[in-house]
Amino acid sequence: MMTSYGNFALLYDVLMDDFDYVAWSGYIQRILNKNGIEQGRILEMACGTGSLTKELLDLGYRVDGFDLSEEMLAVAHNKLSKNKNLRLFNMDMTEFKMDRKYKAIIAACDSINYILSENSLKQTFKRAYDHLEDGGLFIFDINSEYKLREILGNNIFLEDRDEIFYTWENQFDEDSNICEFYLTFFHSDDGENYQRFDEVHREKAYSIKTVKSLLIEVGFIEIDIYEAFEFEDVKEESERINFVAKKKSKVRVI
Ligand SMILES: C[S@@+](CC[C@H](N)C(=O)[O-])C[C@H]1O[C@@H](n2cnc3c(N)ncnc32)[C@H](O)[C@@H]1O
Repeated sequence: MMTSYGNFALLYDVLMDDFDYVAWSGYIQRILNKNGIEQGRILEMACGTGSLTKELLDLGYRVDGFDLSEEMLAVAHNKLSKNKNLRLFNMDMTEFKMDRKYKAIIAACDSINYILSENSLKQTFKRAYDHLEDGGLFIFDINSEYKLREILGNNIFLEDRDEIFYTWENQFDEDSNICEFYLTFFHSDDGENYQRFDEVHREKAYSIKTVKSLLIEVGFIEIDIYEAFEFEDVKEESERINFVAKKKSKVRVI
């Protein structure tokens, strides 16, 4: 079976160089600060190569990060292992278990779309809920149904960057709502000899209604839904949707 985030891990940071992780972490920081979380330990699920992790560490948070891909984690480890406020783990979002609870849990950059069934999504949400302190926040973004179906789905993209040439051929399945991305990379170290490798990635399109009801089913109370990276309502053509779900604070009985 073709993997996701195998060899691609080594090219991920180069291909994401137009992604503004500083702005992204600033957006997350605003959400945390609005909720009185100015310091403490955060859990970053599906932290990948650790680009957002680095920014969160620079903001002064302590971070535990995990990812399913050992290759992505190896890149994160090379980038960040000197930081004493970081711990990295190889785990699956749908069944992770940590030794502590967190003020906030983050899953950025459509990692949640990689969960391919509602059951597994609910399981993931339950794990996140159980690992939050009272009053803690679960912050994540998804690729919208609109983006996966209308923009990425049934479309072909290619990018030519001299040392990396790659194509993605995408198919959106209307029965499962899963978009399959067939990625083919040609990578060269010397600009003359190119090595080919292929990966298949799958992202599932979830409606806002489904995500919201699963969050409520596992116990979250307040759920804010924004067009990323604003605090605006989601529109029909929003491509990235940001969820902020809050765990109930304990009521003190006097
Ligand atoms: C689009 S990348 C995002 C990486 C990182 N969050 C970022 O912002 O750059 C998606 C990540 O999700 C990870 N992933 C996919 N399924 C996962 C799972 N079930 N558990 C943990 N990580 C998973 C992949 O290995 C990959 O690193």
